[in-house]
Amino acid sequence: MGKYIVGITGASGSIYGIRLIEELLRSSNEVHVIVTDSGKKVMEYETEYDMDGVLRKIEEHKDRIKIHNIDNLFAATASGSFKTDGMIIMPCSMSTLGEIANGVSKNLLGRSADVCLKERRKLIVVPRETPFGTIHLRNMLSLSEAGAVILPAMPGFYHKPQSLNDAIDFVVGKVLDALDIENNLFKKWGHDEY
Ligand SMILES: Cc1cc2nc3c(=O)[nH]c(=O)nc-3n(C[C@H](O)[C@H](O)[C@H](O)COP(=O)(O)O)c2cc1C
Repeated sequence: MGKYIVGITGASGSIYGIRLIEELLRSSNEVHVIVTDSGKKVMEYETEYDMDGVLRKIEEHKDRIKIHNIDNLFAATASGSFKTDGMIIMPCSMSTLGEIANGVSKNLLGRSADVCLKERRKLIVVPRETPFGTIHLRNMLSLSEAGAVILPAMPGFYHKPQSLNDAIDFVVGKVLDALDIENNLFKKWGHDEY
């Protein structure tokens, strides 16, 4: 059982973050959620959920989730002394990516990511934009050099997804794999060979 921070920003694909929260809770983890102001707006625009809706969806696990206010720099995740097993920003906008790559910690999401990097804890960034500009690519390289895992929202098709949910679960499964959390969200390549 681990303790993870999930950041959701205003990039397209809030549903990825919502599915990740569900799966982390389902596998008995404690989850600290930080959503940017744009993240909330895009979530309401793109999905059937606002944050209250997300809480209703995971009602049975509500004792293991804490939603933090983006402006609360006094929150536990703002300090390195609050030990976590890592942070996932999913989806990550180019704006937040640029802030973190340049050490800007102006809100709780940026500060929590900065803490993960300085404490050498796992930081998984799931960027969503297309095409990437040169500045986006430079920022991703900086983050990768600082120890973050850049795991783009790029679903594969070799597992033959039957629905959009399958494609979403592929990306969520890749994040769980990167965290070493067992999952069957997509069929792993090579597993039928034995
Ligand atoms: C519907 C919608 C979709 C967006 N999709 C993306 C996206 O995929 N990637 C991105 O970097 N920004 C996207 N943006 C722009 C960001 O929301 C914007 O840059 C915002 O300032 C990001 O703030 P945040 O990083 O604090 O969440 C989108 C905006 C809207 C309204």
